[in-house]
Amino acid sequence: MSDKIDEIIKNHLNVQRDSLLPLLQEIQNELGYLSEESINRIGLSLGLPTSKIYGVATFYDQFRFEPKGRYHIQICHGTACHIEKSSRLIQEAERLLKIKQGQTTRDGMFSLEVVNCMGACSLSPVMAVNEKYFHGIEARNLKEIIENCKVKQV
Ligand code: FES
Repeated sequence: MSDKIDEIIKNHLNVQRDSLLPLLQEIQNELGYLSEESINRIGLSLGLPTSKIYGVATFYDQFRFEPKGRYHIQICHGTACHIEKSSRLIQEAERLLKIKQGQTTRDGMFSLEVVNCMGACSLSPVMAVNEKYFHGIEARNLKEIIENCKVKQV
């Protein structure tokens, strides 16, 4: 995997701190997250302190620093979903899974991501588990969805 990271970095060798985004996005697309190793490799290759790279990456919600869980839960917090109280869904997911958004459960089963719009605003609030969409759900429905993941593929 480190060969792949090096290959991606090689294609971005002239990037500066303020144009790191495409590089970070490409690495995340490849790995599913930004590993410590990938951040270190970027720093070494581009001569940038890792603190600067983390500074850029943590500014954007899109970047993850832990691998995704077997079940990756996305909850939309775009305007339409926010109006339909998606904040409650996010809070309930964090409570049930005992993680915060951007994190993965210790057993690697679940990860939680809050996204801006999932393109189904008229069906808000919207969430997805491994890209299977659920719409019009309430916080009380989350427990059942999570339990179903534990016993069978959703
Ligand atoms: S705002 Fe949630 S799907 Fe568009």
